[in-house]
Amino acid sequence: MAPIDPHSFTDATHPLTSHISLSFYFDFSTSTIFSSALLTLCAPHTGDLLLDTRSLTIKSVIDPINNTKLPFSLSSDVDPIKGQHLTVSLTNHSKILITFVTSPSSSALQWLTPPQTFNKKFPFVYTQCQSIHARSIFPCQDTPASRVRYNAKLNIPHQLSAVMSARHVERRAPLAGSDSGFACDESLWCAEGRVVEEFTMEQPIPPYLFAFAVGEIAYREVGPRTKVFAEAVPAVLDAAAKEFAGTEDMIRVGEKLFGDYDWERFDLLVLPPSFPYGGMENPRMVFLTPTVIKGDASGAQVVAHELAHSWTGNLITNKTNDHFWLNEGFTTYAERRIVEAVQGEDIAALNIGIGWKGLVDEMERFKDNMEFTKLLTNQEGVDPDDVYSQVPYEKGFQFLWRIERQIGRPAFDEFLKKYIAAFKFQSIDTYMFLDFLKSNVPGIEKDIDLKMWTEGTGIPSDAMEPVSNIYTKIVSLSNEFKQGRMPSEEEVASWHGQEWELYLENLPKSVEPSQVTALDYRYRLSESKDYEVKVAFLQLAIGSRCSEYYNIVEKTLKEVGRMKYLRPLYTSLVQGNVKKEEEKIFAQRVFSEARETYHPIAQGVVESILSKHL
Ligand code: BES
Ligand code: ZN
Repeated sequence: MAPIDPHSFTDATHPLTSHISLSFYFDFSTSTIFSSALLTLCAPHTGDLLLDTRSLTIKSVIDPINNTKLPFSLSSDVDPIKGQHLTVSLTNHSKILITFVTSPSSSALQWLTPPQTFNKKFPFVYTQCQSIHARSIFPCQDTPASRVRYNAKLNIPHQLSAVMSARHVERRAPLAGSDSGFACDESLWCAEGRVVEEFTMEQPIPPYLFAFAVGEIAYREVGPRTKVFAEAVPAVLDAAAKEFAGTEDMIRVGEKLFGDYDWERFDLLVLPPSFPYGGMENPRMVFLTPTVIKGDASGAQVVAHELAHSWTGNLITNKTNDHFWLNEGFTTYAERRIVEAVQGEDIAALNIGIGWKGLVDEMERFKDNMEFTKLLTNQEGVDPDDVYSQVPYEKGFQFLWRIERQIGRPAFDEFLKKYIAAFKFQSIDTYMFLDFLKSNVPGIEKDIDLKMWTEGTGIPSDAMEPVSNIYTKIVSLSNEFKQGRMPSEEEVASWHGQEWELYLENLPKSVEPSQVTALDYRYRLSESKDYEVKVAFLQLAIGSRCSEYYNIVEKTLKEVGRMKYLRPLYTSLVQGNVKKEEEKIFAQRVFSEARETYHPIAQGVVESILSKHL
């Protein structure tokens, strides 16, 4: 056994899968999918083949060439991080057909009942596969070291429609015969009121980029290669179309900086409020939280980030999660270059400043576990969802920014383009990047301590805060608050969400309760429609033990499931040296009431925060 990845059972000596044909019959009444997956290996294999699964019931494994059963076993022990391995015994086979059923608790899937949707008429289901949840939808070699092409048939109720991060082929009636791929009985597959949506993905992707959503979904066209999809609510669709009107301009900036956009379409899907991330870079169709729609086009930053992944992450992918910074650090750098080009240097500097504070705060979070302050991490035995942090994003950004400062922007731009062209559609590790850097920028290792940056802990002394008047001004206003001075109306007149976010993030974690209420009385931050501002304020309120805000905290925790908000709110409720019995009981009650509305990944993350402190 030679594992290829600490988070996968895939054996390094086994052939990787090159293509998967999926058939899914969505059963909303049981929150399960009757499925089949036809895997094609890149070479015939003899002996055991190991696949990753989590909460799947395997019904059969078949040799599709002669329709005979193949011996298989599902490991009886369940690894808390990796799940269960499916072992199939092969004799010179390169194709295997697996029939199976997902479970209502499949960690990638959130099933929403009609009352949990905006229109309250139809159910909704969507995926979130990064980092290691694809295995809870279909058996696969769930490591980013592998890249697969796929096609998929989604059999759904005719009132609904399906979208995928893949090319839509057609919507049609189900066919008798092999159309079902043996996912379920023909009587079910062809039952009245069912339709099939067919998709194909011709660009090879790592499994974590597999994605679909099924529900009452509609769209608006916002650009030549961009539609915005969302639940069919005219107000939501209109707001989304307005917020993302500038998308095509950003794609063009991206192409100028990083080379051709290789995925044809760049559609956006706005999900229900329980979506656990701000955005997810599913290729051809980015998934977004509705909290990015603020009415002021500021959602563009998240779109810029997910768009940037089209080059850094989706074209060039980290080989394992140990090298996750290659995805997120490069993307954060690329995102800020796009933001700088479309929104200007000041906004880009604000983002760098917010990121800097985030990085400094993570050093405190990981002070007893410095491994996760490194860029190159060892995640053996570690759940990537538990150690998700700003470090790969912001320390990664800082590393690339440091190289840019060393060699100058024109040379760095040229280097980036060359890097992307050299490794596109490959999965690489930190050492491959460093080798490429050293051979293309001879002598760089004499100026920058590359080993310290990638393998060392903490923030290197040659990292830096942004240089910008507006950034400096806001940080100094935050410092003055500590001495009891609030910013004047005039000083905040031009502030938008990001300025407030930076200001609030730089305040102490805890101040006098009267200062909190005075600040809110003046600027109504607890009522902000911008969740970044509202949550930063509520965190200050909790840290300062202003219990009059706890009803707003409760409301917030019950209306959104984005982990960027859940994590700090739950953490500040339960963490700290002072006795916080009341807050702990409060956090537990709110979680027990809100739990069902969260995505399974968010449920797991909140559970782990609470269990650490209770
Ligand atoms: N790929 C990430 C989201 C992710 C990371 C999901 C790890 C699962 C595991 C995405 O590109 C991202 O970074 N989203 C950010 C957006 C922000 C940096 C603009 C988010 O969700 O907050
Ligand atoms: Zn990202």
